[in-house]
Formats: sequence, structure tokens, C-alpha cells
Amino acid sequence: MKQLCMIFFVLIVPSLISVTVESKCTKGCDTALASYYVWTGSNLTFIAQTLRSSLVDPNDVELTTILSYNKQLPNKDSLPADTRINVPFPCDCINGEFLGHVFQFSINSGDTYEKVATLYYSNLTDAASLQRINNYPPTRIPDRGTLNVTVNCSCGDADVSKQYRLFVTYPLRPGDSLQSIARNVGLSDSLLQNYNPGVNFTRGSGLVFIPGRGIAGGAIAGISIAGVAGLALLAVCVYVGFYRKKRVKRAALLSATSQDLSVQSGSDKTVESTGPAAGTPTSLNAITVDKSVEFSYEELSKATDNFSMSHKIGQGGFGAVYYAELRGEKAAIKKMDMQASREFLAELKVLTHVHHLNLVRLIGYCVEGSLFLVYEYIENGNLSEHLRGSGRDPLPWSSRVQIALDSARGLEYIHEHTVPVYIHRDIKSANILIDKNFHAKVADFGLTKLTEVGSASLPTRLVGTFGYMPPEYAQYGDVSPKVDVYAFGVVLYELISAKEAIVKGNGSSADSKGLVALFEEVLNLPDPIEDLRKLVDPRLGDNCPLDSVLKMAQLAKVCTQEYPQLRPSMRSIVVALMTLSSTTEDWDVGSFYENHALVNLMSGR
Ligand SMILES: Nc1ncnc2c1ncn2[C@@H]1O[C@H](COP(=O)(O)OP(=O)(O)O)[C@@H](O)[C@H]1O
Ligand SMILES: *[C@@H]1O[C@H](CO)[C@@H](O)[C@H](O)[C@H]1NC(C)=O
Ligand SMILES: *[C@@H]1O[C@H](CO)[C@@H](O)[C@H](O)[C@H]1NC(C)=O
Ligand SMILES: *[C@@H]1O[C@H](CO)[C@@H](O)[C@H](O)[C@H]1NC(C)=O
Ligand SMILES: *[C@@H]1O[C@H](CO)[C@@H](O)[C@H](O)[C@H]1NC(C)=O
Ligand SMILES: *[C@@H]1O[C@H](CO)[C@@H](O)[C@H](O)[C@H]1NC(C)=O
Ligand SMILES: [Mg+2]
Repeated sequence: MKQLCMIFFVLIVPSLISVTVESKCTKGCDTALASYYVWTGSNLTFIAQTLRSSLVDPNDVELTTILSYNKQLPNKDSLPADTRINVPFPCDCINGEFLGHVFQFSINSGDTYEKVATLYYSNLTDAASLQRINNYPPTRIPDRGTLNVTVNCSCGDADVSKQYRLFVTYPLRPGDSLQSIARNVGLSDSLLQNYNPGVNFTRGSGLVFIPGRGIAGGAIAGISIAGVAGLALLAVCVYVGFYRKKRVKRAALLSATSQDLSVQSGSDKTVESTGPAAGTPTSLNAITVDKSVEFSYEELSKATDNFSMSHKIGQGGFGAVYYAELRGEKAAIKKMDMQASREFLAELKVLTHVHHLNLVRLIGYCVEGSLFLVYEYIENGNLSEHLRGSGRDPLPWSSRVQIALDSARGLEYIHEHTVPVYIHRDIKSANILIDKNFHAKVADFGLTKLTEVGSASLPTRLVGTFGYMPPEYAQYGDVSPKVDVYAFGVVLYELISAKEAIVKGNGSSADSKGLVALFEEVLNLPDPIEDLRKLVDPRLGDNCPLDSVLKMAQLAKVCTQEYPQLRPSMRSIVVALMTLSSTTEDWDVGSFYENHALVNLMSGR
């Protein structure tokens, strides 16, 4: 228990320090960009893996987030060497000392700090920094495990200009000069120099910070996901919206998180903590954890063959997922970096409080070494794999309607029947799991936000997945349950078309288009059926009831309306889908006769 206390202390205290100690930085900002110089032999998957964070999901096969920041790249497979690309990452205030983000790098045999800094991280960090924050002496780096890698960032400087909020961390190279960079990004030399006081831009190495607005080559402007209302403004607007407030409230939020973790149980299971250093306004209150759900590292490691690849069943933005049999039950174990403590706590909190047939069930957790969440195992993987993966039978229309209804019920539950109310914030097909009976369960509560009814919403960082974010969230960070409704609408379009949320155009223009815009064009036609047919997943074949498809598409359209007030509540969506589901079953001749027979039987005929 003492150990557990320590661990929570370690998790939560660093976040508090930034608000309690007089420090060099007090808060970070939601996003910065890393200018990665692409070397021969690297590729986008590798870069996404190396710079993975809450903003970049290396599991996203299309790597849409990165591509959306790099409009000059037609697709993920054509990444020319000796160019730069921008990779978004969260810019945190680290220990109140400086702005940066700590990445986790998986060591390969023979790696040195020098190689990790100058090659893998393309000089976004340096060997001296790596040596400082990792315990290993330079000659004793193990063959496996992870290294901490910090990449510095900037959130701007109000004394220089209030206009710029998004900054690129840019490693200088030989040949760069103040003038060449300033010209490239369309800024004046003096402004660029003012942001980097005393820096000699021709020195050929070291970091500079470049305001993100107006970077040429589409680096920033690249968010014009055509058609998705307002998203074009994203890069510029997003960060402006909620740069402001955060700070003290974050401490309150974290403290609330720890309180919410309390689960009633005997006093022997109560961990008392007096909180961080003196003078701290908030202290960690008693953290009580139900012993029965805590697993030891040893038990999890044994059950997964030491987290071997053969047990791996999934990879998300925050960690790998492994299959295991634990205490006689099939389980899925999500292993997260210590850095993901925020997500870990969010998920633990929601799932210990909220139970529903259509939400994945949490069995337990473990906080030794890494952070682990243990869930019930869901046999049939995630919806995205069913729609687009190979080696799966196509889902029949009736299953798709069922999956829509199940996920809607899960969401309705967290929106309307829990106190406090929760907003998922990352609804997408990869986060909807399919069980052995082809029922759906909503998973991945790592980004879930609790909203206390009546209180002003806490400012948040922008999290979620491009293509699923509604305009008010992408632009102003407005969070409401209608954020989930919008994303759910996109999932409905996916169920119909089996297309990704952002569809890459054909032809050389390679314009990507949101699914929302693609469908809206068709649904706005006076007689949409024929054009709709072209958008329907070809794997559905001919025996797919187009009138039912049209109804689902129309439902998706109201869910994805630009104005959140116009979108329906999950409750009315459930009702609509129940109606659709009951009429869709009629199409399934078998079940029609079954029901008919049942009616006859019941009425004694
Ligand atoms: N309980 C589970 N049963 C089966 N597979 C799971 C389970 N939980 C997660 N997965 C698989 O792992 C992937 C990532 O899990 P998720 O919880 O979404 O993690 P992340 O927060 O990293 O995105 C899912 O898309 C799914 O394929
Ligand atoms: C991507 O780059 C990494 C690092 O150079 C390499 O190990 C990997 O094989 C590459 N993958 C592809 C598909 O080229
Ligand atoms: C990083 O800097 C070193 C030394 O300046 C240089 O040799 C190396 O090529 C750079 N790495 C990349 C990927 O540009
Ligand atoms: C990042 O910032 C820290 C603190 O200011 C500094 O010590 C370090 O040298 C910086 N790293 C790089 C690569 O410039
Ligand atoms: C990485 O940082 C964490 C947190 O500061 C620390 O516990 C861990 O030991 C570091 N890893 C290495 C390899 O030094
Ligand atoms: C900047 O550095 C370059 C290369 O090291 C040097 O030639 C130049 O004189 C420096 N400029 C200033 C203003 O110090
Ligand atoms: Mg996920």
C-alpha cells in the first residue's frame, strides 16, 4: 500500500508542482510541431512511432493526423528524403523547469544517445539531454527497454507578439539562415530573431522556435480537410481558443481525479497521503482502491509470456494491448507508459464507476513499472478491422444496424444516466469493440472528460481524432456531449461505406475529403438513392436494403450538423436506431419467420 501511495504520488505530484512552486514555466500548450528532417531510410510509420504522443496514433494506418499537417505530402508512402515534415506533439511544462515533451523510445540493440538524438530524433534533441534524463551511463544502454527523450517546445511569448500560439521546434542545419527561414515562413527577420534572442541562425545546429502561422509549403495550413465545415481554419484557430486558462484548474482536476478514484472498502485499504510540498493548496485526499481489482506485475507478465508479441492484439495511441487468461477469465491488458497517467486515471475512473452492457468492462489494473488496465476480452476485435481489415467476413447490414444501436446505447448511458455525466471524446470505429455475438461495446475511455452539470466546462487540450471532430471543438475547444454525437455520426457513415473518416481523393490532386462532406453532397440531392448506392460498401452486395441505408445516412447527417444545438441527443438516436433495427429485421427473412412462429406459439395457434 505504501508503494501504491508512492506511485500515485509520483503520478500526480509532478502535475501539481507546476502550479505550486515558483517556476520557470507554469503551463504548457496543447500542441507544438516538431520539424523532422527526413533522412534516407526513414518513413512516416517510423517517424510516427518515434514521435508518438496523444496527438499521433501510430496505429492509424493512414497517419491522417501527420498528413493533415503536411499538405505537400500526397500520401504516407511518398516521403522524400532530405525534406522536413511537421509532427504535432503536446507541449508540456516539465517539472516547472522548461517546455517540452517526453517521448518514449524503444531501444534497439547497439543504440547510443548520439544515434538516438542525431538520427532517430533528427536532432530534435541532443545526446547531452538524453544522458541527463536517463539513468543509464552512455556505455551501459541496455539492448531493450525504453529511453526518455525530451523534445523542447515553445508556446510563444506575449512580449514579442500575442499573435502566434503554435510553434515549430526547428533544428538548424548547415545552410539555414535567419533570412532563408523567415522568407520561407513569411515572417520578418526581426520577429523571428525576437522569438529566439541571441541565437545565431547560421550556426548549423541547435534548436530554434518558429511561429507556426503561415508556414509555407502547407506545413500548417495543411488542415484544409475539404468540406468539413470550418476545419480549414483549424491549425490557426484551435490553439488560440484554449491557450488561456488551464493552470490552477488543472491541479483541481487532478485532485478531483484522485478523489474520484476512491472506491468504498475497508480502512486497511485506504491510502493516506498528505499531498506534496508545504504550501500546496490542494492535497491528495485519501485514495482508496478496491484490492480485488489490483493485479501484480508478475501475474500480468506471466499471463502474457512477458508481454510477448504473440500475445499482442492491439495498439492504440496510448499503449499496446495484450491477450491473457487471468484467474480463469479471458482478458485484454492495456500497457501504458507512465507518461499516460492522465489517460490511465481517466479510464480507471470512468470504468470503475460506470457499468453497462455496451461499455467494455474493466476487471482491474496494475501500477507497477508501467500502468496497466485489465479488461474483459472482447473476441472479435474492433469495428475498424471489420470494415476495412482483411481476413474478416463482411458485416451484413443487420449487424451494422445492431452495432450502431449498441454503441449508441453505450454512449446514451454515459451522457444521460451517470452522475457526473461523461463525454467520451474519442468515438471512432477503432474504439468500438465487437463481441462474439456481434454486439458492440464502446472502449477506450482514456480521453473521457467528466462534466459536472451546471458548472462551466474546464478548458481542455484538443484531443481526439481528425475526421471525427466537430467544428466547434476543433476551432474553439467547446466540449459537450454533442462532440460524441458528431463522431458517432461519422461512425454511421463508416458503417454504410466502410470508408475511413477522411477519404483520400483519387488522382494526383490527392485531396482528402471528410466522410461528412462526401455524404452531404449526395444527401443534398433531390433524389439521393442512386448516388448513395455508389457510396455503399461494395462488400454489402446486392441484398442490402437501400431504404434502411438511406435512413441511417439521414440520421448520420443530422448527427454531423455544423451547429451542435441542432444535433440530436444520444437518447433520440437510440430511439431512431431501434426503429430502424426493428424494420431491418424484417429484411432478414429467417428471423421474420422465427418471430412469426413465436407470435403464433405465444397466441396458442
Ligand atoms: N478488451 C479488449 N478486447 C479485445 N481487444 C481489445 C480490447 N481493448 C482493446 N483492444 C484492442 O486494442 C486496440 C487499442 O485499444 P484502446 O483501448 O483503444 O487503446 P488506446 O487508448 O491506446 O487507443 C483496440 O482498437 C482493439 O483492437
Ligand atoms: C521504416 O523505417 C525504419 C527505420 O529506418 C525501418 O526499420 C523500417 O523497415 C521501415 N519500414 C518500411 C515499411 O520501409
Ligand atoms: C544531426 O546533426 C549532425 C551533426 O550536426 C549531423 O551529422 C546529422 O546528419 C544530423 N541529423 C539529421 C537527421 O539531419
Ligand atoms: C532544451 O531545454 C533545456 C532547458 O532549457 C536545455 O537545457 C536543453 O539544452 C534544450 N535542448 C536542446 C536540444 O536544445
Ligand atoms: C524516464 O523517466 C522516468 C520519470 O522521470 C524515470 O522514472 C525513468 O527511470 C526514466 N528512464 C530511464 C531509462 O532513465
Ligand atoms: C554565426 O555563426 C557563423 C558560423 O559559426 C559565423 O560564421 C558567424 O560569424 C556568426 N555570426 C554572428 C553574428 O555571430
Ligand atoms: Mg483507441
